[in-house]
This record gives sequence, C-alpha cells and structure tokens, in this order.
Amino acid sequence: MAKIERHPDVADYIVEMTLPEIEARRGIADLFENGQMVILKDYRLAFDFEAIGRLTKSTDRVLDGKIRKALKKLQAPVFFQGEAPIVKGGRLLFADPVRQAVFDVLCNGDRVIFDRASHALESAHGEILRIFGICFPDYESFRFIPSLRLTRTLFENLHWDNHSIDDDFHQARIFVNLDTRPRIWHISHRFIDYMRGVYREHDLGRFAGKDPNLMLSYINGDVLGGTTKTWMEALPKHRIAFDSGELWLGESRMISHQIFYGESAMVYMWFVKAASMSNADNRFNARIENLHELMAAEDREVVSVS
Ligand SMILES: [Fe+2]
Repeated sequence: MAKIERHPDVADYIVEMTLPEIEARRGIADLFENGQMVILKDYRLAFDFEAIGRLTKSTDRVLDGKIRKALKKLQAPVFFQGEAPIVKGGRLLFADPVRQAVFDVLCNGDRVIFDRASHALESAHGEILRIFGICFPDYESFRFIPSLRLTRTLFENLHWDNHSIDDDFHQARIFVNLDTRPRIWHISHRFIDYMRGVYREHDLGRFAGKDPNLMLSYINGDVLGGTTKTWMEALPKHRIAFDSGELWLGESRMISHQIFYGESAMVYMWFVKAASMSNADNRFNARIENLHELMAAEDREVVSVS
C-alpha cells in the first residue's frame, strides 16, 4: 500500500480505489481527465521481481549510440515480441540489433535470465492491458508506448511532462513499480491551477494560440529551473512512496511530479482519440486554450469596470 503524506497547501487530487470499485463505476476516465491521480487500492502486481533484479542495468558496454538510446528508452515487448532467435554456438542470435543488445548486455548473454525476464514482462504486459480495459473501457487509442525503465532515477526536478508533440490528443498513463523497493514521487500543483496562479506575473498570455509545449518548456525550465537550476522551486508537495508492485494512473502533463527515487518501473502510455474521452473538453490542449480565454475575459472585465 502506498504511503502518502498530503501537503495542506496542495489540492488533494489523490484517489485510492480498488479494481472492483473501478469496474462497478465503469472505469475512471472522468476522474483521470479531471486531473486526479488514481492509485489501485489493495493491489500488488503478481510479478517475478527477481527476474528484473538480475538484469544488468548499465548500457556502457554498448558502443552504438542509437542502440544505447533504444536500450535507455526500452519498450517492454522487445523482450517477448518479434522473430524467434536462432541458436548458434550456444549464443542466441536475433534479427533485431536492439533485441540482440538486450540479450548480450542486459541479460549478459544468459538465456535463463533472458527467458525469465521475458516471461515476467509478458505476463505484466498482459495484466496492464487488462487493467487499462477496466479503467478506460471506452478509450480508443491510436498509439501505444509501453516503456520499461530499468535505470535508477534520483532527485528529478519538479516538472510537467512535455512530449514535444503539439497534436491535440489525450493521453492515458499507467505506472507500475517493478522493484522490491519503494518508488518515491513528490507531486505538486496541477498545471492549470499553477498556470492560473502565475499567469500575469509571467505574462503567460503571450503563449495563447501557440503550441502548449512552448509554455510548458518555459515553466519547467525558466520558472522551475529545469535540469540546470534544480534548487529554484520551493513549491509545496505531496509525498508518495509507491510500494513494490503498486500501480497508479495519472495524466503527467497535468500533474506536476518529481521522481525522488526509483529503480525499475513500467510506464505505459496510450495516445487516446479525443472523441472517445468521457469529456473531450478535458484534453490537455483544450484546457490550456480555455484558460487563456478565461484570463483574457477577466482582463477585459477589469478594463470595462475601471
Ligand atoms: Fe515526468
């Protein structure tokens, strides 16, 4: 069970709910779209944690930069989908160079380690798809990125995710802690609430009608400090320690977050068609546009009163 410390100065948008409760209310699309973080209550992924624990996490041995990048942004199905390898001189040979590097480097060329991790990840993959179906029965996705994080993350700066894509889509995200140790997140204000608070001070009206990622970059970098001035923000934060095997859901462009500590995790992301949302007006781009309009309307009101 997650250990949660709520900060009184941050809105409490954390909801804990069991899978049967979610099923009974036909999913959580409405909550998720409203910027709630949902943590599955009384749930622990049945997972072979040792299978992941035995993998080599360093990619230093990989000389090809492209393959090293692919290993860092690994997608879980690389382990269990694709052409079957051939066996040559006791070594597994894969047609795909990324899969080959997974076997040679992450699994140290050990077939037992590879098979065990593949089996564990395939079963977890199926389980996450099942939970996605229960949580979002009406969502139609048009792109799916099932990421696997195998390296340690420490002391991220607080941020909202910027996917550098200005397409008008909705995203659904499921996170699972695949490590035996807790994964620690700090979360603060949601994007719209924060933006509203600093709108005039930072003249955010200049971003109206532009790619929302420009404003996100400005706030993440220039206001909160980004990756270079990580001491710049002192916002109040809820603290959460997600247990081993714990699963949670949240729109990471809406919820500000900072991974304080984490080892292995699954971060599954679906690009969802706006038409299949509980309320399409809640999609990220539309919310940003609405806020710009609201602030402009408030400015007009001030001018007409004075
Ligand atoms: Fe993030």
